[in-house]
Amino acid sequence: MKVMNWRIERTGYDQNQITSYGNRFLTGNGYMGIRGTLEEYTKEQLAAVNLAGVYDRVGQGWREPLNAPNPLYTCLKVDGEYYRLPDKEAKKHSFTLDFRHGICSRKTVWHTLRGDVCIESEHFADLCDPHIIRMKYAVKTKFHGDIEVLTGIDADVWDINGPHYDEISLQEEDNTLIARATTHEKGDHVYVTEQVTVDFPCEMKTKSDPLTLQHRICFVTEPEREYCIEKTAAVYTDHDGTQAEFLAGEAVRADHAGAYQTGKRRHCEAWERLWAVAEVQITGDDEAMYALNYSIYHLQCIAPRHTDSLSIAARGLSGQTYKGAVFWDTEMFMLDFFLYTQPAVAKTLLKYRIDTLPGALQKAKEYGYQGAFYAWESQEGGYDACTDYNVTDVFTGRPMRTYFKDKQVHISAAIVSGIMRYVNTTGDDSLLTEGGYEVIYECARFYYSLLTKRVDREQYEILDVIGPDEYHERVNNNGYTNRMAKYVLETAAALLAYQAIPHRDGVNRQETAGSEGGWQMWAGRFEEAAEKLYIPQPDKTGIVEQFDGYRKLEDVSIEEVRGRLLNEKEYWGGAYGVASHTQIIKQADVATWMNLFPQDFAKQIMERNWNYYEPRTEHGSSLSACMYAMLACKCDNPDKAYPFFLKSANADLSDGGKEWAGLVYIGGTHPAAAGGAYMTAIEGFAGIYMENGELKAEPHLPKNWSEMRFHIWALEELYEVCVKRPDELQTSYTVTLHKVSG
Ligand code: BGC
Repeated sequence: MKVMNWRIERTGYDQNQITSYGNRFLTGNGYMGIRGTLEEYTKEQLAAVNLAGVYDRVGQGWREPLNAPNPLYTCLKVDGEYYRLPDKEAKKHSFTLDFRHGICSRKTVWHTLRGDVCIESEHFADLCDPHIIRMKYAVKTKFHGDIEVLTGIDADVWDINGPHYDEISLQEEDNTLIARATTHEKGDHVYVTEQVTVDFPCEMKTKSDPLTLQHRICFVTEPEREYCIEKTAAVYTDHDGTQAEFLAGEAVRADHAGAYQTGKRRHCEAWERLWAVAEVQITGDDEAMYALNYSIYHLQCIAPRHTDSLSIAARGLSGQTYKGAVFWDTEMFMLDFFLYTQPAVAKTLLKYRIDTLPGALQKAKEYGYQGAFYAWESQEGGYDACTDYNVTDVFTGRPMRTYFKDKQVHISAAIVSGIMRYVNTTGDDSLLTEGGYEVIYECARFYYSLLTKRVDREQYEILDVIGPDEYHERVNNNGYTNRMAKYVLETAAALLAYQAIPHRDGVNRQETAGSEGGWQMWAGRFEEAAEKLYIPQPDKTGIVEQFDGYRKLEDVSIEEVRGRLLNEKEYWGGAYGVASHTQIIKQADVATWMNLFPQDFAKQIMERNWNYYEPRTEHGSSLSACMYAMLACKCDNPDKAYPFFLKSANADLSDGGKEWAGLVYIGGTHPAAAGGAYMTAIEGFAGIYMENGELKAEPHLPKNWSEMRFHIWALEELYEVCVKRPDELQTSYTVTLHKVSG
């Protein structure tokens, strides 16, 4: 697979790659993600137009985001015979993603008895209008042929836990095809409309059956002439307001010949505007540069620019895996990219957490805690989609009790950290007054209520949790969790001391807290708790235990543990997983902690822990590699970081990512890894950080990189940054932080 000059290109056809290409060639505009599939694909090939933040649940299945009826569906008949992949073997086939402009295209040639027929098509999710999809489909033959193109809306959508539409109505009105689908749970509507334009004589009829509505376009070809069909489609849902149906109709009605070209030009210009800030240039390493910008492309495709309160799912907009739920991935792995390149999107992501605070308060109450316990797998309204039985045992087919939902308490701290990073990087504290203060206060109350006091010493502990390493459940004093909780308590205490935390509905938190004993009392309690909260310390060899008793677990190699698997899809963690009783961990845990709090450790200690934990890390999550990469940079070792950086940047370009957890399919794109690659490049290699309201850099470039150039927003100023490796006469890097605008 070639990844050069902003294109990924696959020549030849491989049926086994249908699923992975669906992710790799994805296009999107934040409102929707279009899987990278061919026009003739149906649900069998996982064709999908995945919608951001719109969910449905059927029966006992998992609630998951909706896939809209697919308006791209198109197939070809020559002399009455279907020519479509994968059924009909192609003579030539290539599939391309222009990731500079978010355009997916294909060229396929089939051999027919009368000569070759060729299709060239392209489509994109319009960046200028989040509801619009545009497509061009051109047919060329080497002979006079009887051609039929069937193009329309396929409402027989791919679902994991569907079907989600109880009712689907399909109709044609003045050449506009209209699909109106009604969801099962809430009776919400999804509207899909489309218009096609052709610039050649043809016969156009409408063909429909219960789940598809198509234009049947029949024409006779002249040899070597291109016959081009252009399509504009619109997708709206009831979430877009009461006018959604009307707007969906209007959006395509004005369609006219040439609209595709104009739409494409504007769309490309919009992408160029994004790249003007987000592109990262690396001199000396094209492979890394393209992989990194490809990661950035994926983050741009899923950025919610069309709203002011929405977050991003763990698998982006690549489908329904992981229930389309929002995890800590957003705040801890993706957020920094948006902070530095599109602060408004960063705010939108965090507003989602502010708006879902009621769900977090409710969850805490249900578990007998105070404050805000955020959903581990958050959906609309902060509903926790994580179930008590989140993995299926491969041997018995039975659901396994897992504790992700109950015990991964570090989620609330990730949100506080995200809010504070927003405030510190942008200098904009409106997020605090718009509900951020309250979130921080409630998260601190949550951690306060989790504390266990040891009666024999003045020490608080946090027992029975799951840290980032999910293979070890229900452990005591996970260092990462305790340190993050301490940070939340300290932050809340400082904010309370600085000013009373205002309540979103205008009631002053000073009064609210006052009714429960006074805000000063809470500030004092948080401060004391932060001080006495036990934080594991390095032992005499310099190693910090991931949790109480970790070092006493069996110390074996990953290979040894892998060799104990009886089934390749078997879950490694939980009650009797192969890793649970060993020191093998799923993902960076202590490394994540050290990355976030490097001031707590000497470099030598960080390095020792890197060396201890990395060989014991299975990297069973795509979130893992970037944390080791960034920690290696903090230990002044960019070359050690480099392969881990590349692993993150290539997460959606290479094969081999985990597709199964037990019997649950978890494939899709990996936006957290993409965000991790960006963080490693900008904060690790270029070494960008904020100190006392000032932007600074402490670079550590990998050996082949002579220079990095990029832009970042900080404190409401856009900076052009250039980092240059010292030449023979210099001893230190040259860093230029040039203000472009304010
Ligand atoms: C990881 C979590 C992550 C989730 C979603 C899991 O495999 O262990 O840390 O939040 O995937 O990406």
